[in-house]
Amino acid sequence: MKKNRPQVTIAMDGPAGSGKSTVARRIAERLGLLYLDSGAMYRAVTLLAIADSLPADSPKLIAQVKMCHIEFRDNGKTILLNAEDVSVQIRTPAVNRLVADVAKIPEIRQEIVRHQQRIGAEGSIVAEGRDLTTIVFPDADFKFYLDASVTERAKRRLAELQAQSVDTTLAAVEAEIRERDEKDATREHSPLRVAADAIIVDTTDRTIDEVVDFIIAQVIEN
Ligand code: C5P
Repeated sequence: MKKNRPQVTIAMDGPAGSGKSTVARRIAERLGLLYLDSGAMYRAVTLLAIADSLPADSPKLIAQVKMCHIEFRDNGKTILLNAEDVSVQIRTPAVNRLVADVAKIPEIRQEIVRHQQRIGAEGSIVAEGRDLTTIVFPDADFKFYLDASVTERAKRRLAELQAQSVDTTLAAVEAEIRERDEKDATREHSPLRVAADAIIVDTTDRTIDEVVDFIIAQVIEN
């Protein structure tokens, strides 16, 4: 990392299960940076839709998102929605099913992107999601696009879910990931895409440590 950088922004995008959350968290720990899990914020506001059975595009949900308070604690490990710890709830299958529909609403994105940019302005950060390299931090110092085959991504998600005793199958997880990929990549506003200046990292046959070391090497050398 160049010594004269007052503040560094590392942005990472990629589809579900590409490894970006784990990789970004580890990089943040190793380099002493703030970790921003942008997907957790879309997941948190999805809970507002579920709680009141609101359709994703309802004006009432948009109003609730504008008023809600989202806060991270323990460098991203804990997320509070209106002061309630929702770190576990945001990972449930109900949220997985609905989050991409909520995240495609432009007014909701606008609100969340503003919040992310405020967090990014506070100091050095590793941020990951779907539009961090393209929309949220287009001038990030470092941009990476993490990818992996859909089967590998589904296997990783299945292992995570099984660790939480969620009863599901590889086929069901793969179908859910494919559906979410399709929605995230084809939506009108801020679709998932590879930024022109991003380094593409295929994580299919690489361990988390290998990916972390590769990215840290890029950051330190540049
Ligand atoms: O990263 P994660 O899988 O937790 O993200 C959940 C969902 O949130 C994604 O499938 C996507 O619909 C939405 N999202 C988004 N933009 C981001 C991060 C996540 O639209 N920057």
